[in-house]
This record gives sequence, C-alpha cells and structure tokens, in this order.
Amino acid sequence: MKFESLRRFDRQAVNLLCLVPASVLTIQYFQNRLGPDPVQILERRTGDVALVLLLLSLVFTPLRVITGFNRGVKYRRITGLYAFYYSAAHFLIYLGLDYGFDFSLVTRTILHSSYLWLGLIALLILATMALTSTDGWKLRLGRNWKRIHRFVYLASLLVVLHFALAKKGDLFRLRGEVLFPLIGLGVWAILMLLRLPPIKKWVSRFK
Ligand code: HEM
Repeated sequence: MKFESLRRFDRQAVNLLCLVPASVLTIQYFQNRLGPDPVQILERRTGDVALVLLLLSLVFTPLRVITGFNRGVKYRRITGLYAFYYSAAHFLIYLGLDYGFDFSLVTRTILHSSYLWLGLIALLILATMALTSTDGWKLRLGRNWKRIHRFVYLASLLVVLHFALAKKGDLFRLRGEVLFPLIGLGVWAILMLLRLPPIKKWVSRFK
C-alpha cells in the first residue's frame, strides 16, 4: 500500500514538473513580461521545452541499460506525452497568435519552408504516438504498437533539424547560432548509438 502511494506520488511529481514551464510562461505572458515580441518568445520557449522533453523521453531506456535503473522507464510515456502537448501548443501559438488562424497563409508558408515541413512531419508523428499511447491501443495494435512507436527516433531527428534550421547559423561553416543545435544533434546521436545492440552490450558490461 505504502509502495503504491509512493509510486503514484512519483508520477504526480513528474506531471507537476512538466507543467512548470507552461505555468511560468502563462504567468509571464499575462504580466507582459515576455519582452517586445511575446508571441515569438512563447513560440520559441514552447518549442524548446518540447524538444528537451522529447530527448528526455529517450534517455530512460539507455539509462536502464547503463545503470539498471528500471523505474525510470515509466517516465518515458509521461515525458513523451508532454513533449507532444508542448509541441501542439507551439503549433497553436504559431497558427493562432502569429497567423490569426489564417489557414491558407499558414499552409502556403509551411509548403515553402523546409524547416516548417520537418516540424509538421514531426508533429504528426508525435500526435499519432500520443493518440495510441493508451493501454487499450497497445492491446489493439499488438506488435504494430512497437513498430509505430519506433517512429519517435525519426520524429526526434526531424525536431533537432527543425531547431537547427530555425536558428540563424551555418552548421557546415560553424558560424552564427550553432552551439545549441550542435548540442541537440550530439545528444540525439548519443541516444541513438546507445540503442545499437553491440554498444548496448559493451556498455552493460560496466553496470
Ligand atoms: C507544424 C509544426 C510546426 C511549426 C509550424 C513550427 C514553427 C516554428 C517556428 C515558426 C519557429 C521559429 C520561431 C522563431 O524563431 O521565431 C520554430 C522554432 C522551433 N520549433 Fe517549431 N514548429 C513546428 C513543430 C515543432 C515541433 C513538433 C517541435 C518539437 C517537438 C518544435 C520545436 C521547435 C524548436 C526547439 C524551435 C527553436 C526555438 C528557439 O529558437 O529557441 N517545432 N518552430
């Protein structure tokens, strides 16, 4: 009984932590503390939080392999779902606050910009995963559930590229705003490498 309530507390604590950025941003927005272009700041911050949560959701599996910390795996779903909520908010801010729900202008803008394309595909993948993340869908989809949820690797790469292209930097010449995009790409690459069976086997020897 005690263990069960501790587990529930655990999950609620993670939920509350994930809600902190949304609460801070909402308060700052309504107190006019987001600077001269609050919509742009909201757009950027929700994008940043979505990216961080998405990468965080990919940390728990390799962490289990390296440290044997099994309990972290249950946070995978929560952090993944919040990554979707923040990216949906990011898109809604873009669509509603930035473009005043002008669907035809938004469609034209997205079609003409490769980095927005990448964001859109990533968002559609995350939406599919969020919709099918329940136990009911897991049962219904059987083996296909795992196949569908492997698309998170592609979605996270698309998001890191979307982030890199949204920044004004040149990754090839290492000029401009390249530090955080390079960190994002590096973290993504490490998280993927740690999933490769030979590396997994090698790493688990140090457990
Ligand atoms: C249709 C889908 C999407 C659209 C239209 C979109 C739109 C945008 C726009 C316009 C920017 C540039 C903001 C600026 O610099 O003023 C941006 C940046 C960004 N987006 Fe998206 N996005 C989409 C999907 C996503 C998704 C799914 C994620 C994450 C899971 C994401 C994460 C980011 C990040 C991290 C940035 C950079 C923020 C910064 O400059 O610090 N976006 N997005």
